[in-house]
Amino acid sequence: MMNERRDVTRATHARLWLTTIALAMACGRGDAPAAAGRGVTTPPPKATSTFDTTSPSGALGASVRRGHALLAATRDSLPSHVGSSLRCFSCHLDEGHRPGGLSLVGAYTRYPQYRLRRGRVDLIEDRVNDCFIRSLNGHAIAADGNDMRDIVTYLWWLARGVAVGDSVKSQNVPALAADTARGALIFAASCARCHGASGQGAGVVPPVWGAKSYNIGAGLARYRMAALFVLHNMPFDNPNTLTPQQALDVARYIDTRPRPDLAGKESDWPTGDRPSDVPYPTHAGPAVGADTARTYAHNGAH
Ligand code: HEC
Ligand code: HEC
Repeated sequence: MMNERRDVTRATHARLWLTTIALAMACGRGDAPAAAGRGVTTPPPKATSTFDTTSPSGALGASVRRGHALLAATRDSLPSHVGSSLRCFSCHLDEGHRPGGLSLVGAYTRYPQYRLRRGRVDLIEDRVNDCFIRSLNGHAIAADGNDMRDIVTYLWWLARGVAVGDSVKSQNVPALAADTARGALIFAASCARCHGASGQGAGVVPPVWGAKSYNIGAGLARYRMAALFVLHNMPFDNPNTLTPQQALDVARYIDTRPRPDLAGKESDWPTGDRPSDVPYPTHAGPAVGADTARTYAHNGAH
């Protein structure tokens, strides 16, 4: 019963979203170059929400709903903490519910967690701030403030029924070599109509490279992780249609375009076990696979 209702809501959500995208694309056509910088806006969460209206009443429910709103309209809500055109749900699809779409279901139960990237035990608040700093190319929010309180409460809400410490099924893409020349062709054929020929995004569609994208230290800046996301979720209106080879090629292409830098990235993976698709050298070990990316200087404006 619950599931059926959710499927229907999800289908409606997808349709609404695509209509919004179609409209945005149609409107953008006339003045695409001028719109590139200012045209990318965070969509209003209400029009497309699949949000579960059975959330608790009272102050707890209000906190869940506010956390949800912050993840849906991150940049508009917390402008001084977001240095990109992305919102949390740009990557954590279907409001954090989509399996294979960087689902946030159960994330709350997996922290505290020892993480290799920083070589320390992270709380859920640290993990949220990692995405603010890297994926949103922004700044950490106060770990003990009301915004964090509401975000963590939404993550708690997404973990209903998940046992503490349940791990996600780990997935990977085949170990194929990626080719950026092929990737450029795939991007032009399957992605540019929404993300723009220069990856700049348009209307409700977020950028995939450039000054308003995720920075070089983000999980998606690792092309194998990006490939897995693309394989199962893109093109947005026709997912699961690329081959693993195509997903790797196009992800590698995107991740070798310019994007914001991240100060201090050399200290990542301090114990030296850096994955091969990390696009920058670290102090603890030589580059494995030597994948490189160009970066924009981080100008400290955000
Ligand atoms: C550019 C894409 C992107 C954006 C935007 C983004 N994230 Fe993430 N997020 C990721 C990736 C990639 C991971 C790592 C997934 C993995 O390790 O398998 C992640 C992981 C997480 C996790 C840990 C999940 C787990 O199960 O351990 C949390 C919590 C999280 N993000 C919250 C947020 C929040 C809150 C925001 C907005 C402030 C946000 N993310 C924005 C890409 C993104
Ligand atoms: C029909 C339009 C459409 C097409 C075509 C499309 N995307 Fe997307 N893409 C989206 C939207 C919309 C989102 C954000 C979803 C949200 O905010 O709910 C997104 C998100 C993304 C993200 C994560 C957020 C970001 O911008 O970094 C990546 C990476 C991405 N797409 C890559 C691709 C690639 C690669 C292709 C081609 C294989 C592609 N997309 C084709 C609409 C599209």
